[in-house]
Amino acid sequence: NRRITIRDLAAAKGRGEKWPMLTAYDAMTASVFDESGIPVLLVGDSMGNCHLGYETTVPVTMDEMAILSAAVVRGTKRSLIVADLPFGAYQEGPSQALRNATRLVKESGVGAIKLEGGQRSLAQTELLVSAGIPVMSHLGLTPQSVNAMGYRVQGRGEQDAHEVLRDAKAAQEAGAFAVVLEMVPAGLAAEVTRALEVPTIGIGAGPDCDAQVLVWTDMAGLTPGRLPRFVKQYAALRETLGGAAKAFAEDVTGGGFPQAEHSFT
Ligand code: KIV
Ligand code: NA
Repeated sequence: NRRITIRDLAAAKGRGEKWPMLTAYDAMTASVFDESGIPVLLVGDSMGNCHLGYETTVPVTMDEMAILSAAVVRGTKRSLIVADLPFGAYQEGPSQALRNATRLVKESGVGAIKLEGGQRSLAQTELLVSAGIPVMSHLGLTPQSVNAMGYRVQGRGEQDAHEVLRDAKAAQEAGAFAVVLEMVPAGLAAEVTRALEVPTIGIGAGPDCDAQVLVWTDMAGLTPGRLPRFVKQYAALRETLGGAAKAFAEDVTGGGFPQAEHSFT
């Protein structure tokens, strides 16, 4: 009973098998996904929005990433755990990237690292891979650059599409084992998927990617407010959990809880 490896994911592409990825930020939730057979869990810097109460992913620190990644590793047995390098943890250059990635591998126990950018993160990717750290690349909409690019579909128009394709090939060339494509047109994602030997993982990138990822709180209906068009909700956890909290509150104020069976004599 070993963990999924990057070789398993490469083999799945060879067989034309699609696979799912979800984010996870804590041990208990991660254990549910692990037991449900989700092969890859991403400790995404979306923890900034979903778990830590920030407005964006930008403020997430290495300490926060290290602590939550370690929790996800402890909660799982089978899934490959991938951790994001947060904003500011690799932009200075390859040696900073290696130092921070090494921490997540050694201290938190993750099996792979994800970082944003193709061409612009090439040297970082090469050094991590040469050090034996599997790297997942993240292209298209890269939320750490929100202040420069906003949250818009990327790769529309010939020039931008060419750039996404060039970045994907550069990431693969540098040794990345997979490429996340976020909010790019479905046709472009299909073209990148055909052009690459390594798997593509889509989020808002159409049906032709080798894998699909969603933020778990979006997928399970826990995230409040309007969700992006690319999200499908498979549960209504916000309603379920809110209902449980209200029922508990009513029980306590109304004297319905605890009963004799919950008490010690
Ligand atoms: O942080 C995150 O959740 C991500 C996925 C959306 C790919 O990077
Ligand atoms: Na991320």
